[in-house]
Amino acid sequence: MVGGGSGSKMRHDHIISAKQLSRADIEAVLDHAADIAADPSAYADRHADTLLGLLFFEPSTRTKMSFTTAMKRLGGDIVDMGSVESSSVKKGESLADTVRVVEGYADALVLRHPMEGSAKMASEFVDVPLVNAGDGAGQHPTQTLLDLYTIRENAGFDDLTIGIMGDLKYGRTVHSLAHALTNVDARQHFISPESLQLPRSVRYDLHQEGAKVREHTELDEVLPELDVLYVTRIQRERFPDESEYRAVAGQYRIDSETLKAAKDDLTVMHPLPRVDEIAHDVDDTEYATYFEQAYNGVPVRMALLDLLLEDNE
Ligand code: NCD
Repeated sequence: MVGGGSGSKMRHDHIISAKQLSRADIEAVLDHAADIAADPSAYADRHADTLLGLLFFEPSTRTKMSFTTAMKRLGGDIVDMGSVESSSVKKGESLADTVRVVEGYADALVLRHPMEGSAKMASEFVDVPLVNAGDGAGQHPTQTLLDLYTIRENAGFDDLTIGIMGDLKYGRTVHSLAHALTNVDARQHFISPESLQLPRSVRYDLHQEGAKVREHTELDEVLPELDVLYVTRIQRERFPDESEYRAVAGQYRIDSETLKAAKDDLTVMHPLPRVDEIAHDVDDTEYATYFEQAYNGVPVRMALLDLLLEDNE
């Protein structure tokens, strides 16, 4: 992606990690998404005859449905591998073979897989653009783009202070977002139990990138300073041991009472699904932005697909 706004070109063949996105790339996708959101019907025939291949090896509601909606709203359609249970993966087919076959059916691929590094590996076997929709505890770059869109709309990037709370160890949305926030020079406060702090590799990269990072175990140490609070789910499925999960489950939970100490214009976000980390009484407050955030997945993924397909035609 060079330049900004509609018509700009994407210079990436694949979208694997938020680390590959420059500030200019981010602004290009976000500006284009804003243009699309303002007049979606203008893009209705943009990619007629284009097929997006969906390969989801892990559960998904929002990511899969918003990619589907995005492709259809651009005039194209999807081909979906369906569940792992009903596919040849069940017969022992390798990921490399699966993507090589499906690239013959589709013009671009979206992959979600439980193994960290799987999207990078798979992208090496295909010529069509491949988008990482979550690789284990690794990265989730398109979630980051819609998170950034939501942050820009609600709080702006200037002088931004954000708190990121919950499962920082296994949360791939956190790992991706932290890199991108470094690009917009945000102050980042990470709030978690000690056992769920950022992985050393992510912390090292952020340090190398000059990120403004602080770590906390208590939300109330920083809540009054925050413009955005990004809450995450404890990633139960990634814990090697259920008792480790139980030791931390339910510890980092906010409700409308907690938020009395926050700024009036705090933006509360969550990539969803939530379990119990945001009480339902927050939904009715002005702070709650997580449903808007989920909705933004459509224009942002339309923008990304448009830029990616345009440059790879
Ligand atoms: C996230 C994911 O899959 O990493 N969900 C999503 O894509 N919105 C967050 C999560 O599962 O907790």
